Amino acid sequence: MKNSLVKRSWAEPYKIKMVELLKMTTKAQRIKAIKEAGYNTFLLKSEDVYIDLLTDSGTNAMSDVQWSAMMLGDEAYAGSKSYYKLEGTIQKYYGYKYVIPTHQGRAAENILSKILIKKGDVIPGNMYFTTTRLHQELAGGTFTDIIIDEAHDPTSEHPFKGNVDMAKLEKVVKKYGAKKIPYISIATNVNMAGGQPVSMANLKELRAYTKKLGIRVIHDMTRVAENAFFIQQREKGYDKKSIAQIVKEICSLTDGATMSAKKDALVNIGGFMATNEWDVFEEARNMVVVYEGLHTYGGLAGRDMEAIAVGIVESLDDNHQHARIGQVEYLGNKMMEYNVPIVLPIGGHGIFVDAKKFLPHLTQDQFPAQTLAAEMYIDSGVRTMERGIVSAGRKPNGDNYYPKLELVRFTMPRRVYTQAHMDVIAESAAAVYDRRKSIKGLKMIYEPKYLRFFQAKFEKL
Ligand code: F0G
Repeated sequence: MKNSLVKRSWAEPYKIKMVELLKMTTKAQRIKAIKEAGYNTFLLKSEDVYIDLLTDSGTNAMSDVQWSAMMLGDEAYAGSKSYYKLEGTIQKYYGYKYVIPTHQGRAAENILSKILIKKGDVIPGNMYFTTTRLHQELAGGTFTDIIIDEAHDPTSEHPFKGNVDMAKLEKVVKKYGAKKIPYISIATNVNMAGGQPVSMANLKELRAYTKKLGIRVIHDMTRVAENAFFIQQREKGYDKKSIAQIVKEICSLTDGATMSAKKDALVNIGGFMATNEWDVFEEARNMVVVYEGLHTYGGLAGRDMEAIAVGIVESLDDNHQHARIGQVEYLGNKMMEYNVPIVLPIGGHGIFVDAKKFLPHLTQDQFPAQTLAAEMYIDSGVRTMERGIVSAGRKPNGDNYYPKLELVRFTMPRRVYTQAHMDVIAESAAAVYDRRKSIKGLKMIYEPKYLRFFQAKFEKL
């Protein structure tokens, strides 16, 4: 008998053992809370938030295996057993030779930027990330964008919007010379482009080109397993390979990495720097002592390193990634049913709503994405994040960057929310969309010097 009408749904490969209770708020309470927070969702108190989609960073639910591994943490100041476990896991699954733990990703970026970048250097990359670019700039370098044009177009459905445009890279190399380029900065699953992947073919081409010139490729591998999932789904020749195999192949095409373990690796805090070069490792081992802690704990407790080691292995499980990215896809499809304009294809770690399209009556100086994030909170207590002109910040000369993408990120913590939460989120976005024409923009009334999106304050126009 043919059962072609029977739908077969997928579901999460885990069950819930403990829950965290949430506070429910009224609209009046939310209007007051967001005003007090200067219309910046970063400044809300999390207890006033119902569904927290601010970030997927450090907000993951750890497994019972991770929690029990924490009890094995070796809290020795030097030579902790937990460090060797983490080092061994990174060597086995990612393939990098030398490992320096750090308290989170940006600490690894700080150390690596200080070691590799000299004043006047240029760092080409597949779209900026806020902290990564800032550390490159603080070390005296200038970031230059070499991602394909499609990445800046929220309507392009290119399957690998994270790809490097090799012609753009060649132009940069011609202009500055290979000596001025300490490395190419490559993020897997590009956050600011909407969680979009890089293809293996592109990475191979990049490797071949940089090898000839003696330029390093440094890998921001924060969401590498999510990138690998998309390669498995979309790239020819990879559908039979496991995510673990694909991740290892990606890493093999690069020379070193920085990692925020708070994303892919399913922990609440932690990161590391990795390199295949002894000299770089030696220098990093010296520097980590100044900024983080001894090189066998680097700002982490032994128990944190244990949890990361287990989380890395769990992140490479095909069923885990299927459920993780499947949930994001479910939310994205729901939003599209309600005509909410989102970045396509649907990305790995969240839904990115196109605020320029959502609120076309606002100019970019009226902060459409910041405005929309505040309106989402008022509507339902769902906390999202601006990823547009506020996040882009100012150039070293003080001018605003005006990014093409003006997005609100609905970021999905891993293993935290249910499908019913997804329905509530999509319905709330639809409700705000229905009354979009009556929404007014914002004016910035306080601007911090660095990474302004975290602490800037706004007023309603
Ligand atoms: N690289 C990427 C691609 C990131 O997304 C982040 C953090 C970092 C580096 C820095 O790592 O936070 O551990 O210091 N992204 C978070 C986010 C903050 O919400 O996207 P960190």
